[in-house]
Amino acid sequence: MIRMLIALAAALIAAPTLAAPIQVASPGGVLTVSVDVNPDGRPGYSVSRLGRVVIAPSRLGFLFTDAPKLERNFTIGGESRRSADEPWEQPWGERRFVCNRYNELRIQLTEKVTPGRRLDVVFRVYDDGVGFRYEFPQQASLPQVNIAEEITEFAVADAATAWWIPAFQWNREEYLYNKTAITEVGIAQTPMTLRTANGLHIAFHEAALVDYSGMNLQNEGHGRFRAVLTPSSEGAKVKRAAPFATPWRTMQIADSAAGLVMNDLILNLNEPNRLGDVRWVKPFKYVGVWWEMHLDKSTWGPGPRHGANTANVRRHIDFAASNGFRGVLVEGWNEGWNDDWFASGKDFSFTKAYPDFDIEELARYARSKGVRLIGHHETAGNIAVYEPQLEAALDLYQRLGIDAVKTGYVADMGGVQARGADGRIHYEWHEGQVMARHHLKVVTEAAKRRIAVNAHEPIKDTGLRRTYPNWVAREGARGMEFNAWGQPPNPPEHEANLVFTRMLAGPMDFTPGVISLEGKGQKIQSTIAKQLALYVVLYSPIQMAADLPENYEANPKPFQFIKDVPADWSETRVLNGEVGDFVTIARKDRKSENWYLGAITDEQGRVLDVALSFLTPGRKYRAQIYRDGPAADYRTNGKDIVIEERVVTSADRLMLQLAPGGGQAIRFVASER
Ligand code: NOJ
Ligand code: CA
Repeated sequence: MIRMLIALAAALIAAPTLAAPIQVASPGGVLTVSVDVNPDGRPGYSVSRLGRVVIAPSRLGFLFTDAPKLERNFTIGGESRRSADEPWEQPWGERRFVCNRYNELRIQLTEKVTPGRRLDVVFRVYDDGVGFRYEFPQQASLPQVNIAEEITEFAVADAATAWWIPAFQWNREEYLYNKTAITEVGIAQTPMTLRTANGLHIAFHEAALVDYSGMNLQNEGHGRFRAVLTPSSEGAKVKRAAPFATPWRTMQIADSAAGLVMNDLILNLNEPNRLGDVRWVKPFKYVGVWWEMHLDKSTWGPGPRHGANTANVRRHIDFAASNGFRGVLVEGWNEGWNDDWFASGKDFSFTKAYPDFDIEELARYARSKGVRLIGHHETAGNIAVYEPQLEAALDLYQRLGIDAVKTGYVADMGGVQARGADGRIHYEWHEGQVMARHHLKVVTEAAKRRIAVNAHEPIKDTGLRRTYPNWVAREGARGMEFNAWGQPPNPPEHEANLVFTRMLAGPMDFTPGVISLEGKGQKIQSTIAKQLALYVVLYSPIQMAADLPENYEANPKPFQFIKDVPADWSETRVLNGEVGDFVTIARKDRKSENWYLGAITDEQGRVLDVALSFLTPGRKYRAQIYRDGPAADYRTNGKDIVIEERVVTSADRLMLQLAPGGGQAIRFVASER
């Protein structure tokens, strides 16, 4: 017995001493992150929620192109902690005040072997999510960091269903969402959203993608995902001089799908506004010379069917002015729209208008009617042609009082053309480091001239609107244009997928409101009521009324909702929802006491029981209801709509009846007190 005890004691002494994991809990104790270093000196983290592991031990580290990997032989050289409660106000947004409460843990990792490099990992733990990032300190042994790959992992502890789009595909972000078991995911873009077997919802994404390459997620099997960075023509996917910090790797975690949307993690992990007073950034609605080109009723390029001609644009300005829209987008106004513009973008001028588009006079005419033209810079992904013209192009807009620009990067995967330091053209990816730099250059140059930016075929949104509030929206998913010519067009579940995936990243310029329900020779898989509901459901501070003016003129009653609905909110509530199935969102107008509600469904008809408890108690509201009519069905009759009014209070409930592929939009007009 004594010999056994001695042997046991000796074994204990000989065993490698493993420090207890270092833990940090969220302010309300909901989430806990544990960090440790295994016997090989490999650092890892895990996340538990209310005592249950949701992210199992997951690796951290890097591979470099020109230095040994940094992922083992570490010791924890120190830790520090911080707590913060830093509420802030959005200049525009889904809600005015944002709560920002977290506990932070910084772990200093030091290599035990030569050259003894250092790497910090910083965790910010909220009750509804976790963000962490790496910080490379200045150090003689790693002054220039050339990253081949990140080996950050996310090991999902439970079986789960995933909603995801594939990464590194021909058509960038413009894919329909897959719904599969996580074991069936390939390489996914972020945000990727999961629902575990226990009903927990988790979305993986990133925040503050600055001077770095975008992260995708590679399925490694058994619920384990690993970061895969977007390629670069340089070999190394990221090249940075230390010191610097990576983007935050984020996990939004909630009991319900609605909880994922009511979540400000991505914004909170971004730096505060750097532009100072941004009252010049105006949320607004707009119309445009746009859908007609997608329908092939007119052309971007010059010729007899050129859409951007002075008379047509004047007609749109008049239409905008008489219906209360601030903006008129005009595409195809500038030289360079040759027949295969998308193949190279080499001919684009961003200062020379086609002769049948009198930009000076139209900008003046618009302003005289309280309307602004919206500039358009389609680059076809050729930033080697665009960047040298950027400042002059923005100067022109500033001089003409054009205070918003839509940029576009239509190019296939890996088809962005950028001029390298060697003076040659390099082929890059839309979400690589070169484009992260490019977009910020456009946004900061635009900000100097008080111009807002709406990027299409963009780099993904990672919440940078907090730091640069003139970066108002992006596309970055299948938008309305696919209903014109997409094969297939967007199916009824598409928007119910977007709300819980793409929209977690930030505002989308989806361009809703095609109430004619007609694409180019194909039907839009929607009802009219759903088109209206999208203005509330799909958040953007700039919202297009995308249909042709004549279609709105022919349908003045449903059009009234589009005229009334604001694009800026003081509060947002997600009342119900399931990923890819349905969602109901209520938002309060930033400028009045009025509330708006949008509900949408997929191909299933549904009845949604909604409590109006978000309304101010004791107040009466006129509910102007735009609902699917009894015959409405996206397959047979999308146009059946009932518009009615009733008086409601916060004590009431509504049974929202949505047709297959349908929706409902309600404006709650507050009575005078
Ligand atoms: C693709 C954009 O998403 C669309 O809105 C635009 O009309 C075309 N490119 C042309 O720039
Ligand atoms: Ca597009």
